[in-house]
Amino acid sequence: MYQTEIGIDVLKAKQLLEKGELVAIPTETVYGLAGNALDSHAVAKIYEAKNRPQFNPLILHVANQEQLNRYVENVPDDCRKLMEAFSPGPITYLLDKNLHVPDVVTAGSKKVAIRIPNHPLTLQLLNSLRFPLAAPSANPSGYVSPVSAEHVLQGLQGRIPYILNGGKANIGLESTIVGFNNGEVIVHRLGGISIEQIEKVIGKPVKILITHDAPETPGQMKSHYATKKNFIVGDLESLKAAFAEKKVGIISFSTIQSEDTPHVVLSSKGDLAEAASKLFAAMREMDSQNVDLILAEWVPDQGIGRAINDRLRRAIH
Ligand code: TXA
Ligand code: MG
Repeated sequence: MYQTEIGIDVLKAKQLLEKGELVAIPTETVYGLAGNALDSHAVAKIYEAKNRPQFNPLILHVANQEQLNRYVENVPDDCRKLMEAFSPGPITYLLDKNLHVPDVVTAGSKKVAIRIPNHPLTLQLLNSLRFPLAAPSANPSGYVSPVSAEHVLQGLQGRIPYILNGGKANIGLESTIVGFNNGEVIVHRLGGISIEQIEKVIGKPVKILITHDAPETPGQMKSHYATKKNFIVGDLESLKAAFAEKKVGIISFSTIQSEDTPHVVLSSKGDLAEAASKLFAAMREMDSQNVDLILAEWVPDQGIGRAINDRLRRAIH
């Protein structure tokens, strides 16, 4: 057991990581649970602290393209273009790994998922380290990803020594994962960079290949973003009528809800980026209310709205 501390001491985070300890780190997407990616003991601790299945590989975090080049075999032209446009930022590249990347990080795969996060504290930390950080989202496996240091503490208190506090994550959804195959760009997970943004940069349509139950990205299991309370998504007016005798909590996109019902409006001005940044905190808040179930509605299926709908779909149970 650790006495988990929250603070803004980058040097302390660095020293703990150098000793093989884990530190939760802020990113623009969600908080990560980081360890030295080149130290298999540290990586083993990540799986243990999260209770994460060993077959679900981890994302490697680096400070810049030069560091990224040290861990991958080759970078396709489309990937270079995407890096120029979006990194540092909420996008992860699935590339051929080289010998420096331990198999525990990739769960035995020849591909490594690698990204340059866009958060000043974490970039400062990564720049000061001589190794990349392996980091999944800093939540117990299966629960909603954390977008603040307090969320991390709620899930991992006692399991890690330090949480580097970088405030609220401003994107609020995980990174988009893209792979490359024979000139094709394949999106494996919808996230902070939209399909439209990617297609504009590469000048051709992407292929979307989102698997929920194993192959390319095993972590895409459906129950990945589950609240403890039952979670139902659909037309709010019909859902409210159908569950009129239940105590419900409501997550609406932009419509105002009655004051007597616990609720969160994701963006009263109907802004998808704002809605994305509030979704996970809203799910946690409704989960903590005295309600029997949580009702939510779909958002417009465009831009980052597609990633929001993806997380809503996976939270349903
Ligand atoms: O925004 C993010 O990506 C956050 C922050 C912390 O960087 N990280 C994150 O990690 O969401 P995690 O572990 O919750 O999700 C990583 C996803 C999983 O679905 C995993 O299966 C997939 O990436 N992944 C990682 N390495 C992979 C690999 N070598 N091949 C295929 N999928 C991989
Ligand atoms: Mg996760």
